[in-house]
Amino acid sequence: MADAGPIDLCRVQLAGPILNGSGTFDAIAARRAFGDALLERFPFHAFVSKTITLAPREGNPPPRLWETPAGLINSIGLPNKGLDGFLAHDLPELAELPVPLVVSVMGFSRDELAELVRRVGERDEVALIELNVSCPNVETGLIMGADPAETARAVEHVRALTDRPLIVKLTPNANDPAAVAVAAEEAGADAVSLINTLKGMALDPRTRQPWLGGTTGGVSGPAVRAVALEQVAAVAAAAGIPAIGMGGIASGRHAGDFLSAGAACVAVGTENFRDPAAGLRIAAELGELAAV
Ligand SMILES: Cc1cc2nc3c(=O)[nH]c(=O)nc-3n(C[C@H](O)[C@H](O)[C@H](O)COP(=O)(O)O)c2cc1C
Repeated sequence: MADAGPIDLCRVQLAGPILNGSGTFDAIAARRAFGDALLERFPFHAFVSKTITLAPREGNPPPRLWETPAGLINSIGLPNKGLDGFLAHDLPELAELPVPLVVSVMGFSRDELAELVRRVGERDEVALIELNVSCPNVETGLIMGADPAETARAVEHVRALTDRPLIVKLTPNANDPAAVAVAAEEAGADAVSLINTLKGMALDPRTRQPWLGGTTGGVSGPAVRAVALEQVAAVAAAAGIPAIGMGGIASGRHAGDFLSAGAACVAVGTENFRDPAAGLRIAAELGELAAV
């Protein structure tokens, strides 16, 4: 099993292999709640921002969460301040974190994605950029990350605009995630991360109508771990670039499973809502496992 020590992720040095899943840990709110103690014992070895879009978004109408056995369905809908608001207000605060910063971006067209990558990549505070391609391209109607050719076109369109390493966050709602990973690699991506949430739905027990304001949502947490592990193993076997594995990781043993399946590093998502210090615990458990 890969150990819990320092790693090189696309030429960026990390003190260990534990990241957060985008959108599952609000470092700015946590800093407000825990003060500088958060910086002294930061739970991750790199921090991934929540996904930002070019224009500000309100997100989806409530309700936004449904608890499933061993997981969550969320329909948050990417509320964010938009690129200008992020660069002016959030980036300076995130730059104070004691670990390299990954900024996650989503564009609803290739040109929107290009604008995001170009302007985020200009900032010295940003170590890596993650492309969240789990959204429809309004020009083609296709989910960018569900189709290898569409993903390749998106990566090719932005590759030359930044020298920052590009991570493509793969969706599990694709026929063949490994083919999408290979297409991303051939188009110039430096790494892939997976899995994003699986499409899911819940009904209101009283009205028999969809519970979530967004009708459908994304399933995450231990419920998806077996699916994630299979996809990470398939992607790691097919692609030559590093894979960041996630999906239901809640212990050092789970993290070790993803590393053994071929992931270069791992990310903790839903577990952060239960325990904001989960990253520290998982890193310590992984260290104990690696030592035996
Ligand atoms: C409440 C919530 C919000 C999320 N927001 C984002 C997001 O903004 N961008 C993104 O790429 N993934 C987002 N995700 C997906 C996670 O980063 C992760 O890929 C997924 O939840 C699987 O990991 P987990 O089972 O450990 O949570 C979100 C997940 C949850 C539960």
